[in-house]
Amino acid sequence: MSVMNKVVLISGAARGMGAHEARSFVAAGAKVVLGDVADEAMQALAEELGEDSALAVHLDVSKAEDWTLAVQAAMDRFGRLDVLVNNAGILRFSMIEECSDEEWEQVLGINLGGCFKGIRAAIPAMKAAGGGSIVNISSTSGLKAFSGVPAYIASKFGIRGLTKAAAIELAPLNIRVNSVHPGNIETDMVDGLYESLKHVPMNRLGKPEEISKLVLFLASDDSSFSTGAEFIADGGETCGMPNLF
Ligand SMILES: NC(=O)c1ccc[n+]([C@@H]2O[C@H](COP(=O)([O-])OP(=O)(O)OC[C@H]3O[C@@H](n4cnc5c(N)ncnc54)[C@H](O)[C@@H]3O)[C@@H](O)[C@H]2O)c1
Repeated sequence: MSVMNKVVLISGAARGMGAHEARSFVAAGAKVVLGDVADEAMQALAEELGEDSALAVHLDVSKAEDWTLAVQAAMDRFGRLDVLVNNAGILRFSMIEECSDEEWEQVLGINLGGCFKGIRAAIPAMKAAGGGSIVNISSTSGLKAFSGVPAYIASKFGIRGLTKAAAIELAPLNIRVNSVHPGNIETDMVDGLYESLKHVPMNRLGKPEEISKLVLFLASDDSSFSTGAEFIADGGETCGMPNLF
């Protein structure tokens, strides 16, 4: 599984799964452009990874102009763009009746709009590179619904659809687009959220490295015949209902 010398742009790379993916890509010989709104944490990670391998760029994924600058930064620093990981996301809680327009628009704007704007911005650079791989981080919330997070669910189902639309359009350009559906993963996003993991047959949280390995596989040429597909890593959560009796 080689990503050696590939240039990878990762959104939401300052912490959590995005930061782990950045470390894994660099350990495997890739160059990474980190994009996030958490500038301080992102800068510290870029320094840890070293300036030959990593660059930090302020990126609010909901802003098209930030995406233009991030792709340009990848071109200026590393000369090409091979991989985009649309990882940035936020989770907000409310029942539909209480969900404000602001919350709906913020979650959809970052989680789904961010993916769309990232894909659109990356196409010219990937065309110039002769192809590429785009990995969109959805969720098990893009495969089944839960109550209390309507905007998040809609955004993650939307990413799944956008992935397939982009895969069809971009296949002639040798650009592959796949979605990843993590279950409950040990990051700040879900810190203290679950009292029990009985809904997961493996009865545990996943670790960020269990998602990074999948993302590296999809970024590499080892997944060369996969596009528009859904890759699940959820400890069995979407199999059905464990512990029913
Ligand atoms: N942790 C889980 O259990 C889980 C499960 C399924 C899917 N996911 C998805 O995986 C992705 C990463 O989640 P995580 O658990 O690492 O979350 P996290 O909260 O630990 O990290 C998210 C990162 O995204 C950044 N971010 C937030 N808004 C942004 C914006 N507008 N522009 C750029 N960056 C922004 C944050 O600063 C942060 O660095 C998200 O899309 C999330 O929805 C997480």
